Amino acid sequence: MNGIVSLGEAMPMRPHTTQKCEQHGEYPSYRFAGRQTGCPRCADDKLRKDQHLRNVALEAERFAARLKQVGIPPRYADAHLDEVDQAEAIRAWLRAARAGKSGALVVLGHTGTGKTHLACAAARYAIEQGMAARYTTVPRYLRQIAETWGVRGVTERAVHQPLVDAELLVLDELGAGRAGENDTWRVHDLIADRYDEARPTILISNLTPNELRAVIGDRAYDRIREDCVQINLVGESRRAPPQRR
Ligand SMILES: Nc1ncnc2c1ncn2[C@@H]1O[C@H](COP(=O)(O)OP(=O)(O)OP(=O)(O)O)[C@@H](O)[C@H]1O
Ligand SMILES: [Mg+2]
Ligand SMILES: [Zn+2]
Repeated sequence: MNGIVSLGEAMPMRPHTTQKCEQHGEYPSYRFAGRQTGCPRCADDKLRKDQHLRNVALEAERFAARLKQVGIPPRYADAHLDEVDQAEAIRAWLRAARAGKSGALVVLGHTGTGKTHLACAAARYAIEQGMAARYTTVPRYLRQIAETWGVRGVTERAVHQPLVDAELLVLDELGAGRAGENDTWRVHDLIADRYDEARPTILISNLTPNELRAVIGDRAYDRIREDCVQINLVGESRRAPPQRR
């Protein structure tokens, strides 16, 4: 004996005990690295399960990245239609939108009633269904427009057109912030251009219909009113009250 043995020769000589797995029956258990080995088939199952969980996590990560890319704020990345009372009406509206119906879905309600949550859940559902949806807010849109001013080679159109072209657009916070006449025009143009392209839009505001009309202009309002589904969210703000100390 020179002390060199092949693994095949060595293995059978390793001492083991026979253990019993409730699920898989008897198996040889070895003392290895200071521990007693368990059921190999259970270990295989666990490996497969871990791999599956890893794949699910990866998939979720990819989806979250996609939601972010289309403008959905991370805070609302987990919004799901199952939590929304009006889910059925929204799914029906989205089905029609996908089939080529171009009317708007108008969601109105006081601050904190869940409008953005609802809209992001709708966008998520639409994306899951294979629609190319985008989300933006009026303040974000106007800010991105302003950021193009004075930048060589970049036009307002670079901000405007992708939103016109999106298969579905969620336009949140209509009426938020100051609304100069130019801003009204820009928002009006976005809505009217989508209307002309026969593309469905979800419009969200905490204004009353009349206030909304003033903010987006009569012509855009008239286009929206022609063929829209309206959802009014009522009740108290769903935001948690400030913690008392
Ligand atoms: N259906 C829901 N299930 C669970 N949480 C919700 C639901 N709707 C809203 N929330 C939560 O309540 C809070 C307020 O909702 P959200 O931001 O959608 O209100 P909002 O109407 O858009 O308010 P604002 O007019 O100020 O923009 C958020 O934290 C949101 O995640
Ligand atoms: Mg909101
Ligand atoms: Zn086992």
